[in-house]
Amino acid sequence: MDHIKDKNVLITGAAGGIGLCYTQNLLKNGAKTVSILDLKTSPGQTTAANLEKEFGKGKATFYPCDVSNVKEFAETFKKAINTMNGVDIVINNAGVLNDLLWEQTVNVNIGAVIQGSLLAIEHMGKHKGGKGGILVNIASFLSLEYFSVCPVYCSSKHQVLAFSRCLEGNFERTGVRVLILCPGVTGTPMLLDVDKKAFEFIDKEGLMNFLGSSVPQSPDNCGKAMVTLIQKGENGAIWLSENDKPPVAIEIPPIKKMIAMIDIRESAGKQAMDTLNAEFGKNRAIFFQCDVANNSEFDDTFKKAVLTLGSLEILVNNAGVINESDFSQAINVNVTAVVRGTLLGIQQMQKDTGGKGGVIVNISSVAGLHALSQLPVYSATKHAVVSFSRSCAQPYHYQRTGVRIIVLCPEITQSSNDLPEGESLQKYHPQRVDSIAHGLVYVIRCAQNGSIWISEDGKPVYEIQLSDSLPLKPEEFSFNEI
Ligand SMILES: NC(=O)c1ccc[n+]([C@@H]2O[C@H](COP(=O)([O-])OP(=O)(O)OC[C@H]3O[C@@H](n4cnc5c(N)ncnc54)[C@H](O)[C@@H]3O)[C@@H](O)[C@H]2O)c1
Repeated sequence: MDHIKDKNVLITGAAGGIGLCYTQNLLKNGAKTVSILDLKTSPGQTTAANLEKEFGKGKATFYPCDVSNVKEFAETFKKAINTMNGVDIVINNAGVLNDLLWEQTVNVNIGAVIQGSLLAIEHMGKHKGGKGGILVNIASFLSLEYFSVCPVYCSSKHQVLAFSRCLEGNFERTGVRVLILCPGVTGTPMLLDVDKKAFEFIDKEGLMNFLGSSVPQSPDNCGKAMVTLIQKGENGAIWLSENDKPPVAIEIPPIKKMIAMIDIRESAGKQAMDTLNAEFGKNRAIFFQCDVANNSEFDDTFKKAVLTLGSLEILVNNAGVINESDFSQAINVNVTAVVRGTLLGIQQMQKDTGGKGGVIVNISSVAGLHALSQLPVYSATKHAVVSFSRSCAQPYHYQRTGVRIIVLCPEITQSSNDLPEGESLQKYHPQRVDSIAHGLVYVIRCAQNGSIWISEDGKPVYEIQLSDSLPLKPEEFSFNEI
């Protein structure tokens, strides 16, 4: 469906700058007519006349209006949509960058965006008998950063982003798709004399260095981005248009921490995700279907999961199988995937390459501490988890990475996957899975790097010392020993 062709557009602050490029690109892409609301002192009249010359009579109309004046904005908005006989797209673009005139900056950049959005929803909203429509609010690359040299402007653009993201949740009732465009540094009059529009206490040299080091993109790049965003952006989409490149979608990680679950069983994984989200709130858990024994699939899924989470602080390598007949599958899942997951986790969290450190819990088994005659392959794979994890926990690694590596060894549990076919649960003194889960939370909170813990009989977890479990002192370590 074409969202621009034959549509009526209302745009604020489009007498020049980026707003004019939005208008030109929308008309090029078949918009029916555009109403431009800008200050009476702006060149809006000439702009509209030039647009009519280029695109035809009736294609652009200028309405003098100060959008920071609540009454004037409401009246002009109404007049413009009456003349167009309805509106399909509203773009709140007018903006001011002048921290010295902070009240004006707040009134235009926030006040008028709020009012323009409410007017748009009032006139297009399905809840009011309208047919829905598109609302685009113009934020900035500074909505995604904290820029100390223009705190008023920067925070006003954060609010545009936050306000628009709150609105997006009403789509089902209003039918108004809310989109956010964040232009990067763009060559328009807004950037003129910015040092003279900043507080005296700011680092003006830093500001000039920043502006000097960034090459402003052409406003037309934002114009093209607007067309793509309106045609393709889903409700709530945030797109960044910078450096004269095509726009990119921005994902803002949720504020509350999330859990990403990876498992080969799709329907069970989705069901677990739904149950957790119903109990703990929307978007607290996410599920990715993946065979961790498939190296490239695991790498890709791990990357995707970390991108969705925004950051990684805790990793649990839990996937495991008992399969004595297909022992290579057991080795791939129980050993290779744990090694791979641990290395991916360290890479993501390690302090020496800019990470914040973290914790990795590798799930072994009591079978990884004893020789188990019934399950030799399983037992061997779980021994491998113990020794690999202890090696990775050595000070040689930990001092650089700041990633604690802990091993948790549960007894056989009531999880049906653990048992070889035909074996009875009673034989293994099963314990409840939630007692292991409590143990997991305890070790994440309290366990020291390199420690090994047992969870059995539904009792609290306890730590064990293996005979050579004391880590080597750094001075005792030598590559010749490997
Ligand atoms: N230029 C950049 O580097 C950049 C970067 C990120 C975001 N933006 C945002 O893009 C939008 C357009 O900026 P621009 O670079 O084209 O700036 P610009 O100064 O060229 O254009 C701003 C337009 O808004 C109009 N305007 C200002 N106050 C108004 C008011 N009270 N009522 C009606 N119209 C008013 C101005 O007359 C002007 O036509 C702004 O919201 C700006 O914050 C710009």
